[in-house]
Amino acid sequence: MKSLLHSRNIFLSLLAVVLYAHSSCWACTLTSKNAAQAEEKDWWQTAQFYQIYPRSFQDSDGDGIGDLKGITSRLEYLKDIGVTAAWLSPIFKSPMVDFGYDIADFYEIQSEYGTMDDFRELIAKANALGIKIILDFVPNHSSDECEWFQKSLRRERGYEDYYVWHYGKLDADGKRIPPSNWLQAFRGSAWEWREERQQYYLHQFAVQQVDLNYRNPAVVEQMKRILRYWLDQGVAGFRVDAVPVLFEVETDENGQYPDLEVSGTTDDKDDRTYLKNNLVENRPETIDMVYQWRQVMDDYQRIHGGDTRVLLIETYAPPAYTMQMYGNRSVEGAHLPFNFNLITVLKQGVSATTVQEAVDEWMKNMPAKRTANWVIGNHDQRRAASRYGVQRTDAMNMLVLTLPGASVTYQGEELGMIDGEISWEDTVDPAACNSNKDIYENFTRDPSRTPFQWTAGTNAGFSTASKTWLPLAPQYQTLNVDVENSSARSHLKIYKSLVELRKSSKTLQNGSYKYKALAEDLFVLKRFLNGDDTIIYVANFGDKTVTVDLQSEFDATLPSTMTLKISSLDSTKTLGSDINPKSITLAAGEALILSSRTK
Ligand code: GLC
Ligand code: MG
Repeated sequence: MKSLLHSRNIFLSLLAVVLYAHSSCWACTLTSKNAAQAEEKDWWQTAQFYQIYPRSFQDSDGDGIGDLKGITSRLEYLKDIGVTAAWLSPIFKSPMVDFGYDIADFYEIQSEYGTMDDFRELIAKANALGIKIILDFVPNHSSDECEWFQKSLRRERGYEDYYVWHYGKLDADGKRIPPSNWLQAFRGSAWEWREERQQYYLHQFAVQQVDLNYRNPAVVEQMKRILRYWLDQGVAGFRVDAVPVLFEVETDENGQYPDLEVSGTTDDKDDRTYLKNNLVENRPETIDMVYQWRQVMDDYQRIHGGDTRVLLIETYAPPAYTMQMYGNRSVEGAHLPFNFNLITVLKQGVSATTVQEAVDEWMKNMPAKRTANWVIGNHDQRRAASRYGVQRTDAMNMLVLTLPGASVTYQGEELGMIDGEISWEDTVDPAACNSNKDIYENFTRDPSRTPFQWTAGTNAGFSTASKTWLPLAPQYQTLNVDVENSSARSHLKIYKSLVELRKSSKTLQNGSYKYKALAEDLFVLKRFLNGDDTIIYVANFGDKTVTVDLQSEFDATLPSTMTLKISSLDSTKTLGSDINPKSITLAAGEALILSSRTK
């Protein structure tokens, strides 16, 4: 009996110990999880996004045009350069007036790019490699060849108000004229007359890109169906195109659209910037639509599980507007509204001060707990290396990959690809074709869309065709994956070491930041985290050699010895060597990444 009691007691005390241990263990996992949660980020918050322009990435069938099979065959390259998620510019059925940004069927793949099976294969292989695929969602307009538009032209039931139609107005001589003076992005009126309906339709872009009517709930619903359809195919989210122009001001009490005021910034009456576009861009309704799309993403994840499906949105607006795209206290919005400041602010010139201004404009306006992101190029801009100056290529890539938040790389930036030189005869971009031989270079986007450079061989390894859809850019014999991978030093190697550092460094992923433009055109950024290495980025954006004391001019707490981790291509300093932050000499364009960890 006694022994029984005893054993019972032992049992009870054992139980107590187990319970205690269990509960304390439970409590301890909870706390550490909380602590980890504060630090741990969702995949997209530290992601390295990569934009693929499918027409120019890799041609698999020798027609001179990139395609899906081509992309699939190059996924290992994306893996090799550390890409988390690749965003594909539009791959949907299109007459290619704006190279896919004029969609004729939102549910179909463009046949010159491949088939739905090819797409499934692409997704499957990407997923197997751990790469996410993001599609371009073009909600503002459809092609005029889209079935919806054909139905709307005939006023078929359900499609009457799919687009923005208007009778126009009469001028002083009783002649019919467009409803308003609005201009399209690619020069000329934003209104086009159609005999069939005896009405004008709105197009904020080319004549063949017809603006959908977002005041029609059926359109809103149709576009959400498209999102769900592609989510079902396994995509990880969307880059949303041309968000600023989604909504326009409504008609007034007389059913008329107001004219826009003249901006005074140009005399070119066909150029969109001739007018102040406040009534046709960045409207309040647009923000709400972005919130609705976010809900589609979140609902989808709730139902189907899996990783967060993301929304990256194209927005060019003042910060007060852009920041609302993130959401507010009660509603979530885009995960990442693209930050184009390093493009737009630096148009005034590239200097430490403009870089600081660009970074400030985002970081000082971004609401708490949101994630920043950094973009230096895309298919609408001149090549980063050409725009910033070739000697600053690495300085810019290094900046994008060391600033806090997500990074975005446009295909070829990692190689330092430069602008193509495209004659008027070879020009295909509607933004340029709608102008003329004398001024097209001010508008053309073709130079940044030339074939990706894989090798020094025929067509840079892009295609076996005798002619590619756009000619190759200069210097492809040296600026290509093959050559850069086999050189001891190259833009690509620098990019890869940046990515490696970023993946292994908690400081770069979660650390705090501090930055400053110093005299003589130096920009310095410090990333730091308790208990981890401090990382310094310092770049000379000017054109003369400068010596700086970072301890006295920037941060007195810097250690007196730091290790050189990464340097720009022309730098003569030895990687792995000791650098004293009290005295660093930087040549024009030179950029360095230092770590507080000594070997
Ligand atoms: C976006 C795209 C651009 C396209 C336009 C119309 O700005 O990035 O390439 O021409 O929308 O869809
Ligand atoms: Mg092809």
